[in-house]
Amino acid sequence: MNIKQRDFLSTGDFTNEELTALIDLAAKIKAREYTERPLAGRSVALVFFNPSLRTRTSMEIAVYELGGNTTSLDIGKGTWSLEYRENVLMDGDKTEHIKEAARVLSRYVAAIGVRAFPEMHNYAEDMQDAVVRGFARYSDVPVVNLESSRFHPFQALADLMTIREKLGALNHQRVVLSWAYHPKPLPMAVPNSFALITAQFGLDLTIACPPEYDLGNEMMQEINNASAASGGRVALSRDYRKACSGAKIIYAKSWGGKDFYGNPQADIAARQAYQDWRIDEAVMRSTDHGWFMHCLPVRRNVVVTDGVLDGEQSAAIDEAENRLHVQKAVLASIL
Ligand code: CP
Repeated sequence: MNIKQRDFLSTGDFTNEELTALIDLAAKIKAREYTERPLAGRSVALVFFNPSLRTRTSMEIAVYELGGNTTSLDIGKGTWSLEYRENVLMDGDKTEHIKEAARVLSRYVAAIGVRAFPEMHNYAEDMQDAVVRGFARYSDVPVVNLESSRFHPFQALADLMTIREKLGALNHQRVVLSWAYHPKPLPMAVPNSFALITAQFGLDLTIACPPEYDLGNEMMQEINNASAASGGRVALSRDYRKACSGAKIIYAKSWGGKDFYGNPQADIAARQAYQDWRIDEAVMRSTDHGWFMHCLPVRRNVVVTDGVLDGEQSAAIDEAENRLHVQKAVLASIL
């Protein structure tokens, strides 16, 4: 595999062979069989437009343990606020454009990580991933996606590594991506990325969600194309309990409805009818010795019960650990 100097923006930009090689390397790193320090003497900038616990710490530690140094920027808090739109009159509250920011940072660092959640005003605009893709366009060094409006590829890679660890083989395993109730509309990057990577690897995926929370048509097209290419299967269910019965993986996640972008109150009103969409012990008992997965952070007893999250079949903490290993694997490979 040679992916040197490539951006890491979506797993969809990489072949199964490349992604498998990354997970193989992550497994070696986890087993402490890899001791190289490919980032010695080099730095990585981590640009955060939004908060993080796992991504920030695991990226900082990954770079440090590969021999490098990070500089973390919280945009608008100690650094200038950044404009990302093209051809705009910058007479508002934004101080600097990402065109300059990306090019300047490129003179200092070997790679740039960017986290930029959707504004959730306009679904089609958010799905352009303008901030992360803008950084990739103007940067002279590789850009890695720390969660954009559309994708969270490090999370997806860690999730796939976790599934492989728990189940052994990946092909045709029954996995359910289940929407869950949450009091607020959340971004769609994690469900998009989980559905895409499981489709890329030929898993038998069921997406369970109320009709208001269907993933976008363009996204579903990409997921269906990936699944067709890998010999997998994608199904849709409106009954998450039925969908989970007999499954090996239950991946719970809440997300906002694409038709409610710009109108969060309408989303909040719509989701009240689905307050019972929660993974509990009865759901897990109906699975085929299934594993509970969640990217975290998670609201206890809203998305998932204490009993499931703290139970022996919960993989949530393993997923979080695997973020560290896959990020090291990607950084070591692209740099
Ligand atoms: N899963 C994840 O990306 O966690 P953080 O938002 O805490 O980084």
